[in-house]
Amino acid sequence: MTRTGGASHTASRALDQAFGAGAVAATATAPGRVTLVGEHVDYVGGHVACMAVDLALTVAVRPSRDGWWRAAGLGQRVQRPAPVMAGDIGDRLFAAAVAVGGRGPAPPPLEIAVVGDLPASAGLASSAAVILAATVAMLRLAGRRVEAEELVAIALTAERDVAGVPCGDLDQRAIVHARPAEVLALDCAGGARRRVPWPWPAVALMVAASGESHDVGGREYRRCRQAAESACAALGVPTCQEIGERWSELEPGLRARGRHIATETLRADAAVRALEAGDVAALGRLMDESHESLRRDCEVSTARLDAMVAAARRVPGCHGARLVGAGFGGSVVALVEERAAEACAAALTAHSELDRATCLVRPAAGLEVTAADVVGGQLGGS
Ligand code: GLA
Repeated sequence: MTRTGGASHTASRALDQAFGAGAVAATATAPGRVTLVGEHVDYVGGHVACMAVDLALTVAVRPSRDGWWRAAGLGQRVQRPAPVMAGDIGDRLFAAAVAVGGRGPAPPPLEIAVVGDLPASAGLASSAAVILAATVAMLRLAGRRVEAEELVAIALTAERDVAGVPCGDLDQRAIVHARPAEVLALDCAGGARRRVPWPWPAVALMVAASGESHDVGGREYRRCRQAAESACAALGVPTCQEIGERWSELEPGLRARGRHIATETLRADAAVRALEAGDVAALGRLMDESHESLRRDCEVSTARLDAMVAAARRVPGCHGARLVGAGFGGSVVALVEERAAEACAAALTAHSELDRATCLVRPAAGLEVTAADVVGGQLGGS
């Protein structure tokens, strides 16, 4: 059985275990994402180099027999008479149903279960992944097909307008458009994207959870986004791509944020060039610089993340390391020679709150590939 087949079975079984036997469920699996370089710039139209990874969440959905909405996962089991937000596991799942209903026939009341190995609140886009997996499963249940851009739009509506999280669009686009063995270069201003092959067979990315949980809906993320938007507004530029050196003109309270978004979008471009040139040392340096900017100018790192990053960098064969995702906890990603993976894992784990903190990941397929029965667009196209 394939991994996805196995996960579908596990999700359907979880549904039966939580709520008793019922109708045959529709299932869908969505991967997590890792940002290589380009953090905290998507919401101000920056450039991002990112990928989907082979850690994933699988959702099973089926109509409920009595009109109640139910959800199970992460050790929680909840139910309510309507798909409203209540601060629990049901929120993102029911938000997906509301957003699906906003662009077509409304799904009936549903029972939903989530399983998988993509950790929650770890900076790896589990929130976008669970919404996208639920959305695709609901579309499958209804026999509907959507274009890739519409799927991204539904997931963004669910997250921003229904769940109320002020995120950018990087996670959703990575999870939908990614391809195996390729890095996705996103322009978050105009929506353009291109792909760059992963050039090093013996170099991988190691993800290490700090054990400090982060919440993208939290106040810090919102503040970060507001500061970045204020910096662009103060300079009269539509996106961070037009700032260049002009961050130095900003008033002291906005200057550091302005410098982060101006330099991070340029670093994402440089990361793409490093991938194209096969220059692993350059990519590692850019990841290091990205972390430094996120720590000093964006102020989204923590002492634990800094310690993990420093420990990884000391390992011979580790080319660079940085926090990944929104920050305020979450995970670190390190660019590492496979032969150094064990040493790197030990160094990272020594500073994590967790005993089993690390995982080696590779660029994986997004939903355009894995859910081609539901998601339109040309396979192999841009
Ligand atoms: C979270 C958000 C994204 C992006 C990153 C930081 O993952 O969902 O939109 O802002 O943080 O790069």
